[in-house]
Amino acid sequence: MGEVAAGGAKNAALPIMAASILAREPVCLDGVPELVDVDTLALVLGHLGVETKRQPNGRLALRTVDARPTRADYELVRRMRASFCVLGPLVARRGRAAVALPGGCDIGDRPVDLHLRGLAALGADVRIEHGYVIAEARRMVGATISMSGPRGPTVTGTANVLCAATLARGRTIIMGAALEPEVVDLGRFLIALGARIEGLGTSTLEIEGVEALGGASYRIIPDRIETATLLLATAITQGRASVTGAAPEHLQAVLSKIDEAGAEIDVELDRITLACRRRPRPTDVTATAYPGVPTDLQSQWMAWMTLAPGRSVIRDQVFGDRFRHVAELNRLAARIERRGETAVVTGVDRLTAAEVTASDLRASAALVLAAMAAEGRSVVRRIHHLDRGYHRLDFKLAQLGAAIERLPGDAARPDKIVANERTTRMEKAS
Ligand code: EPZ
Repeated sequence: MGEVAAGGAKNAALPIMAASILAREPVCLDGVPELVDVDTLALVLGHLGVETKRQPNGRLALRTVDARPTRADYELVRRMRASFCVLGPLVARRGRAAVALPGGCDIGDRPVDLHLRGLAALGADVRIEHGYVIAEARRMVGATISMSGPRGPTVTGTANVLCAATLARGRTIIMGAALEPEVVDLGRFLIALGARIEGLGTSTLEIEGVEALGGASYRIIPDRIETATLLLATAITQGRASVTGAAPEHLQAVLSKIDEAGAEIDVELDRITLACRRRPRPTDVTATAYPGVPTDLQSQWMAWMTLAPGRSVIRDQVFGDRFRHVAELNRLAARIERRGETAVVTGVDRLTAAEVTASDLRASAALVLAAMAAEGRSVVRRIHHLDRGYHRLDFKLAQLGAAIERLPGDAARPDKIVANERTTRMEKAS
């Protein structure tokens, strides 16, 4: 039976790297995944006077060498919207921030009004000029802030305001805070720097501002989205595999849905084993904020349900427009009908190979999963999207027994992945 290790969580590493702007002493992070998005943020931090050094086995050292820069350029922020996480740390530590508005992306428009409202509530002067958010404050002042919006809590909005509150004068209460494990991980990192935070993991955070934050060594939590993507890849190819170094406690809702769909799940400390010998049962999923099934797994779940005999209804309450993968999955002979913020999947007996094009990070993962289950030789194009959030997913899947190979890209035809015959069961004789 194949086994593969989960990497560090991208969506914890990014806000934690940004929060290193707050530290007056060096920071050493372990378990930082090797991803394009991490490299992009390291570039942004470099322009902001924070030197980053990759060391062996997932270690990243960060040190502020120049605390004067306060501008994060559009050229860099547009490449990776999570760079917007430097906003709160910058204005808190350096009194000023000019960060390009990240703009929209393939999963819909991505407003930042809750971020700005939260910083303004802490006393920052916040305005938008020529596509940049300008935030200024000599010293912010603690306040009671409601962070929840029409679509529920905001993950990076909570991160920005939480970071800013750690250096504000007095007490801040953040209500409607995001509960995601990545936000808890950020909070724990800030406490390691010397911040005073209560309520992590609940929707109400209490922060007692301090004068300054020191340095810390900190290990990033495992990536729950990568873990679940690897499990669903095993399920869709009717194989058996284990993911080690995982955090099953972060995937309760997902694991119970996988169980409901008929795959066998076995959890033993940080090892999750999945075995699936048949097609899944049709199983509805609504993606919601934590602790529900995450929106970042909605497309991968849909890929699996294309083979479930019957109808599966998939909703996304977080990003109502996150369905770019529907048309591409239908090219693999799936039968999915989009109805607004819902997709209705009618299971088919088999998927058949095709050339498909990835659009965003998680949609590209869904296409790889479906292509591995499809009969024949599929090609998934534009998989640079995949590399933003998964470290060598093709290699990890091949380790589990998938017939998948990465073809070198060329000018006209960007890099692509080929998934071969469906016959490849994802279990490799160890
Ligand atoms: C984070 O994005 C993640 N990114 C996303 O993962 C993830 O899909 C998302 O949270 C939801 O879990 C990182 O952590 C780097 P939100 P974020 O603010 O913080 C609305 C991936 O694939 N909203 O929690 O940008 C928003 O439109 C990425 O790894 C406002 O209305 O998402 C959405 O409907 C994709 N106003 C909802 O809240 C705001 O000011 C949740 O968004 C902010 C958000």
